[in-house]
Amino acid sequence: MNDLNRATFPAGFAWGVSVGSHQTEGGNVASDWWYRENQPDSPVAERCGDAVDSYHRWEEDLDLVAGAGFTDYRFGIEWSRIEPADGFISRAAVNHYVRIVQGAVARGLRPMVTLYHFTMPQWFAAGGSWGRPDAAERFLRYVDAVAPILDAGVDRVMTINEPNIVAVFPILESGAEDLSHGIPVPHEGLTQVMIGVHRATVARLRATHPGLAVGWGVSVQDYQPEPGAEADVESYAEPRDQVFLRASAGDDFIGVQTYTGGRIAVGGTIVRNPDAPRTLTGWEFTPEALGGAVARVARLLPDVPIVITENGVAVADDARRIEYSTGALRSLRAAMDDGADVRGYFHWSLLDNWEWGHWSPTFGLVAVDRETFVRTPKPSLHWLGSLAPVAAAVAEVA
Ligand code: BGC
Repeated sequence: MNDLNRATFPAGFAWGVSVGSHQTEGGNVASDWWYRENQPDSPVAERCGDAVDSYHRWEEDLDLVAGAGFTDYRFGIEWSRIEPADGFISRAAVNHYVRIVQGAVARGLRPMVTLYHFTMPQWFAAGGSWGRPDAAERFLRYVDAVAPILDAGVDRVMTINEPNIVAVFPILESGAEDLSHGIPVPHEGLTQVMIGVHRATVARLRATHPGLAVGWGVSVQDYQPEPGAEADVESYAEPRDQVFLRASAGDDFIGVQTYTGGRIAVGGTIVRNPDAPRTLTGWEFTPEALGGAVARVARLLPDVPIVITENGVAVADDARRIEYSTGALRSLRAAMDDGADVRGYFHWSLLDNWEWGHWSPTFGLVAVDRETFVRTPKPSLHWLGSLAPVAAAVAEVA
């Protein structure tokens, strides 16, 4: 069943894994999510707490990634560690991330960093979060503070992880809707704030770090029309991702983050298939969604190179992860054959980690014992790593 091999993707193709800061590091005591999960009536079902202790075990994590054959590593810089109090920049935290970048480079991995992956300092949240009038200015102060990290050898920067999900947080927090019926319509004001912060960050990094590749990662689902619903796909997708994708025009790459898809009916509603197999997050098991999502992004943004910055599946049986990834990669290759300019694939995720209030959805290529933090690779780690395009590995050695 598995016809993928090292020659399936072109030389130089980035072959990576993605992790987020808060979901793996542990002990992010100055962050808004830490604050929230420790409130007496916290809506957070399960605490993140120590997460999987990657703040201390990052060398082990890098060894696993490089040892399996990957060429690239995406990880997060945690704003609440860099600036735990308003205006205080922690040199120790900056140096910590400098060491991770150096450690990745020393292992032959190209580092990609995410500047904002859903968590912010509690002082920023308490002061109005993205609604504060000085939000962009405060974010740029943090961006300036991470310069030594970028200078240590970062290859790509993702400004904001899934701005279109950030823009539905108020809806999710109100409990009015959840993600089980697709992405709710994002908050219009937050949509514009996200776009503004992104554009300001790109401009700042272009000025301070010319040569660094800058973009953001949008959650893109595959929307296929029911008969006669072609135009409805457009109107359904427009506020949910297309407005964010269009704001990427001129960026060095667009990060595409795809897990699933749905069928759109006439009238613009998403249709769920009650018989479809589900993953541990309750999403439909749809490996081919990746190719469909990429094809739509390529049509919308023909001039912006695409990097798959997240794709993966929460399953208990690792064989199902390999089955899912095989289907996803085949569909990606087909989209590339149809003309999509795709420069890399980053799997979500390296580790079974904290899934925003829950520990049960296991997305990892590596299992983690939550008492001892011992990492145990699953067969999928070496299977996926072994697909790293061979010429890229040769180029690294040379
Ligand atoms: C996020 C990750 C999350 C993953 C799986 C993406 O929305 O960037 O933080 O763990 O999907 O739900």
